[in-house]
Amino acid sequence: MKKPIITPTGRERSFAEDEIIVSKTDLKGIITYANPVFLRVAGYTENEILGQPHNMIRHPAMPRCVFKLLWDTLEQGEEIFAYVINLCKNGDHYWVFAHVTPSFDEVGNIIGYHSSRRVPERKAIEEIEPIYKMLKEKEDSYPNWREGMNDAFETLVSHLESQGLRYDQFVFAL
Ligand SMILES: Cc1cc2nc3c(=O)[nH]c(=O)nc-3n(C[C@H](O)[C@H](O)[C@H](O)COP(=O)(O)O)c2cc1C
Repeated sequence: MKKPIITPTGRERSFAEDEIIVSKTDLKGIITYANPVFLRVAGYTENEILGQPHNMIRHPAMPRCVFKLLWDTLEQGEEIFAYVINLCKNGDHYWVFAHVTPSFDEVGNIIGYHSSRRVPERKAIEEIEPIYKMLKEKEDSYPNWREGMNDAFETLVSHLESQGLRYDQFVFAL
């Protein structure tokens, strides 16, 4: 199915502090499971979401370089924590603090991925939003998206190095 073009409304949605938005994917990021909180907040039915690529809820404000970091980390068999802004079916958005991990079989092969997300603190969103905006503007300043992503990725990494932090330490410091 072709990804529908959804225009962001600028309206924010949230979810309760004791709720967790869960999804699972195969190795390519195709959604194989979404819990009821996911469906409610994103505004999709299970039929609409299962079998679709996870970029179905990608928000245009998300820098590509953050997803590069996510996939590079997961494919090395490691977990990652990240702030993500997602797009609902009707164009509203919601921020999450995601913990994404590979799932392994009994001999240690990666067989899929799993994400659990909680509602982030407002203070963290306020700190991450301008950083994502700066990274996104850098990416968009290149005619070639891959070059833009790589440059923004280097900016992200040097931003972290300047603070003496790994990405996971950085997100927890927010
Ligand atoms: C388990 C898992 C959960 C993911 N959750 C999200 C998500 O909530 N929002 C999102 O935009 N991308 C998510 N992604 C990343 C997407 O697969 C994709 O890389 C991203 O949306 C960028 O899409 P693009 O590569 O088509 O630009 C997730 C990936 C995995 C493996």
